[in-house]
Amino acid sequence: MMEGKKVVIDCDPGIDDCFALLLCMKHLDVAGIVAVGGNTDLQYTERNARLITELAGRPEIPVYAGYNLPLGRKVVRATDVHGNSGLGDVFVQEPIKKLESRHGVDYLIDTFMNRDDVALITLGPMTNVAQALLKEPRLATRIPGILSMAGSAFVGNDTAVAEFNISGDPEAAQIVLQSGIPIRMVGLNVLRQNRFTEKEVEQIRQCGGPVAEFAAELLSFAIRRYGYSNLCDASAVSWMIDPSIITKSVKVHMDVETKGELTRGMTVCDWRAFLSADPKEDLAHERQISHEEMGAKEGALNVELAMEMDSERMKQLLLDTIRSYGK
Ligand code: RIB
Ligand code: CA
Repeated sequence: MMEGKKVVIDCDPGIDDCFALLLCMKHLDVAGIVAVGGNTDLQYTERNARLITELAGRPEIPVYAGYNLPLGRKVVRATDVHGNSGLGDVFVQEPIKKLESRHGVDYLIDTFMNRDDVALITLGPMTNVAQALLKEPRLATRIPGILSMAGSAFVGNDTAVAEFNISGDPEAAQIVLQSGIPIRMVGLNVLRQNRFTEKEVEQIRQCGGPVAEFAAELLSFAIRRYGYSNLCDASAVSWMIDPSIITKSVKVHMDVETKGELTRGMTVCDWRAFLSADPKEDLAHERQISHEEMGAKEGALNVELAMEMDSERMKQLLLDTIRSYGK
């Protein structure tokens, strides 16, 4: 377990972001939270970040607002999945805790220019991180690593090929992926196997207490459409909390399509070195040709991409964590 690792979380709460924040606030040392427009508008994502820190009994964790709108031209929201407020249709009281006055991008720049002990987690469109890199390019050598819920090896959710956190701001994602910062990415290719259903709603509710009740209501809304939710963000952060939860990852060259009529927002991975020797299988989860043998044809292996995970272990971590917030 990476208990106590210091992190800054950039997110767009968002139902699954809330589950991720509950995990991080219990198992990691959350130095600060920066909200971004994504699942819904920034006025809600920053409010929801403040609300979940209060509910978790962690009002001291500062919450900053970053950007509402993406670098690119098109605003993409997911209010059909998360509700207009970002918290489904759960009735909530406005948080007492105030938003920090500093802009979230300035907080990111200040934190990573002056501290060496903090890692970055992104759970929404990468607008704030890209804007920070544009404003202070030296961040590219100062941010030690990014753990991202984003992208996919081969399938999208916002479109056939684009995952929402990338399609929400493809230009921003491209800046971050091309920055040279070490990136660990958990995408839809692995998260699609996680299925939180009515069964987990009841298990969470039975944990008892205000956090469990709120989490059960959120998940109950999230599963309404398909009968399940992947809880993508929560599964992604579990890689930092318990590294054994991701059972296989590969280093791959990844870039982002920003111009394609059908493919804008697609994370384009160079899988040529991973083609299975068996023509009936497509993608091997182990490199078949070394990076050296690929020569100049393959770009920098800029992303460590999760390929397989232990879903049951992740579910148990989430249930144990919610239970630990107490009645
Ligand atoms: O594609 C899933 C991602 O998009 C998650 O971060 C979810 O919160 C939405 O932002
Ligand atoms: Ca999110």
